[in-house]
Parts: sequence; C-alpha cells; structure tokens
Amino acid sequence: MRTEIFADQPEMDSRAAGFIIRRAARAVERRGRFALALAGGRTPLGVYGLLQDLPWERSHFFWGDERCGPKEHARSNYRAALAALNPPADLPRANLHRIQAELGPRRGAEFYTRRLREFFGPDGAPVFDLILLGLGADGHTASLFPGDAALTSQALVLGVEPPEWVTPRLPRVSLGLAVLNAARSVLFLVSGAAKAGAVRSILEAAPQAAEAPGALVRPAGELVWFLDAAAAGQLSRRPGASPCESCHSNSHDEGD
Ligand code: 6PG
Repeated sequence: MRTEIFADQPEMDSRAAGFIIRRAARAVERRGRFALALAGGRTPLGVYGLLQDLPWERSHFFWGDERCGPKEHARSNYRAALAALNPPADLPRANLHRIQAELGPRRGAEFYTRRLREFFGPDGAPVFDLILLGLGADGHTASLFPGDAALTSQALVLGVEPPEWVTPRLPRVSLGLAVLNAARSVLFLVSGAAKAGAVRSILEAAPQAAEAPGALVRPAGELVWFLDAAAAGQLSRRPGASPCESCHSNSHDEGD
C-alpha cells in the first residue's frame, strides 16, 4: 500500500489524472483495453475533468456504485461523472457501462452482475484494471457502509439500503468487496478535513478501523491512497518526518 499526500485538492487531482492515464496506457498496451470503475460522490469530479488524454476508444467506464432513482436523476453518479468526463462525442455508448439503478437495488444489482459477466467472462471475480474509490467520514466506500451485511458478502454487485446518517438517503447498487479486492489497482481519492478521522483510523490501523469498509479494501494488486493535506491532517506520521511504509510522499508512481 502507498499513500501520497498533496498540498491541496487541485494538486491531488492533477497527480491522480496522471496516475489514471498511465494505468490506462499500460492496460491498453498489455491487454488492448482499459477497464475502469469510477468512484461516485463529488471528490473525483475534478479529476474526471483532467482525463482528456485517455485512450477513449479502448477505455470502458463502469461505476463503483449508483444511487437508485429515475434514470440519470439529479443525484446520479453516472450523470455527474459523465458531465465531468465530457467524453468525445464519438465515444461508443458500448464503452459506458451504466448501473441501471432505476430498476431498484435488487434488480439493479442483478442486471449489473450480468453486465460484468458479459464483459469480464463467466467465471471468477471481474478484474478491473483500476477502481477509483472515495471515502465517507464514517469510513464507507462505494456504497459499502459500516456494519452492513454487504461487507461479508461474496456477491459481485449488491443492492444496499444506506444507514440513516447517509445522504442522499437513497437505496444503492454497489460493487462488492469481492470485485474491489480483485482489482489490479485501486486508487482512493480523499479530500477534506471531514474525512481525516476515517483516514487516520484506516491508515494507522486503529482497532475500530476493522469495521470501516475502507479498511477492508485490500486488493490483490496495487493499493494507493491519494490525500490532500486536510484529509491527512490527523495522521501521526507525515512525509518528511519519520518515514514509514504506508504514508510517504514521493514524486513518482511505483511501477511506472
Ligand atoms: C457515493 C459514493 C461514496 C462517496 C463517498 C465520498 O455514491 O456517494 O460512491 O462512496 O465516494 O461518500 O463522497 P464525496 O466525494 O462526495 O465526499
């Protein structure tokens, strides 16, 4: 696992865009396509606007989770991400793998499971080249919430009823941990002081972190956390202080 801390969100966004584009180029070179799962929420939207250099025609966009409601409703992760990505007009619709959350959590999960199987094959967990994830102040990621039965499920995609403290209070469809942890690369993007407690708890392995869904994301491949200084504000070890294996800032991406 690697953690990089940036002065502010614009710097984090710029470095995250470079990270994504390099992994896209690597995936296309090795496998002829790039399978990316986009994070929901607001944090990643700035990054999505910096991805003009993606190999668009070889890139396949999935979503890590979606809020249930009318198709492309105001709080839709699909709608927000697509507006921010602003893909080329000639991007084939077949490259956009929208979660049909308007079907409701259960049927939406069934349909997305079928979509994953069609794209990745009938057996085993789908292996994304890169999954982008955000983090809630309660330690949730995608739509996997603390204490939810989804955390012990092997399902590829789940229908989820969020706890009462989550906004928007909409049923969700979410990739399950089985898919998150099968990825070649997972990048968390976390910004803002509101997340600092969850970040410290997860990255510095506090006992209560065991329940935090963000702590359960331990992919077979690469796990990288990008934080701005505010989100890193409660970490006890800071870059340039006592170096440690999990929270250092360096100026290059490993393996690039
Ligand atoms: C969602 C997301 C969720 C999000 C975090 C952080 O549908 O809301 O998938 O997991 O990433 O809640 O959200 P912000 O980036 O808006 O703070």
